Amino acid sequence: MSTMIAVLLIFFMLIHAGSGNNEQCSSSMNDGTNIIIDRYVPLGQHFNFSCDAYERIKQKYLQIISVQWLYRCQKDSFILDNNPNSRFVYDQNEYFLIGYDIQSIHEGILECHVLYKNSLTNESNLESSTINLKVQDCNEKIDSNASHALRNPCQFGQCQVVSAKLGGIKHEKLYCDCFDQYTGLYCDGLFF
Ligand SMILES: *[C@@H]1O[C@H](CO)[C@@H](O)[C@H](O)[C@H]1NC(C)=O
Ligand SMILES: *[C@@H]1O[C@H](CO)[C@@H](O)[C@H](O)[C@H]1NC(C)=O
Ligand SMILES: *[C@@H]1O[C@H](CO)[C@@H](O)[C@H](O)[C@H]1NC(C)=O
Repeated sequence: MSTMIAVLLIFFMLIHAGSGNNEQCSSSMNDGTNIIIDRYVPLGQHFNFSCDAYERIKQKYLQIISVQWLYRCQKDSFILDNNPNSRFVYDQNEYFLIGYDIQSIHEGILECHVLYKNSLTNESNLESSTINLKVQDCNEKIDSNASHALRNPCQFGQCQVVSAKLGGIKHEKLYCDCFDQYTGLYCDGLFF
């Protein structure tokens, strides 16, 4: 039974992978439990995201069969296979997804799919959670209102993007140039 569901799951993933959703990034899972969460990562930084669906299932003491992260949007769509050379890798043991040196091109949807089994009924089910990965690049014209500039993490300082070429590949990194009296990566600390 669970094998059949796994096969179906892969089948649906392939369908979605093939649809190359360019104009809009949307989640394939709309079962009501799947809330899409925006997560902002500064250019050139790493992230460490937890799989909310995994946390929910673990709390209910249900038997987890498999956990898989999927990446969709922009030019690519694929199952993250934990290749150590990949920019996205799974943390060991737990299902955190680590992303290294995030660039603008990596903006997209990260879905965590958890296949689990209810040991009383032997029923297999799928639960998922979705993260909308957004990259902070100092741009205040996007995702901003009067009080929040979500693409600018610099609290008391000037946001800037430094661009360099590493091995022929363009690489960008966000820096905060702190105003007097302020310190920290995002200028959110005061000098005493
Ligand atoms: C990711 O975060 C979790 C929870 O905070 C932590 O246990 C884990 O060590 C982190 N992984 C890495 C590679 O930093
Ligand atoms: C669930 O599966 C196990 C092992 O396949 C079996 O022994 C058990 O009887 C099944 N339980 C139910 C409720 O179908
Ligand atoms: C501005 O955006 C932030 C973050 O999305 C939100 O929490 C806040 O309520 C918004 N404020 C106004 C005045 O719309």
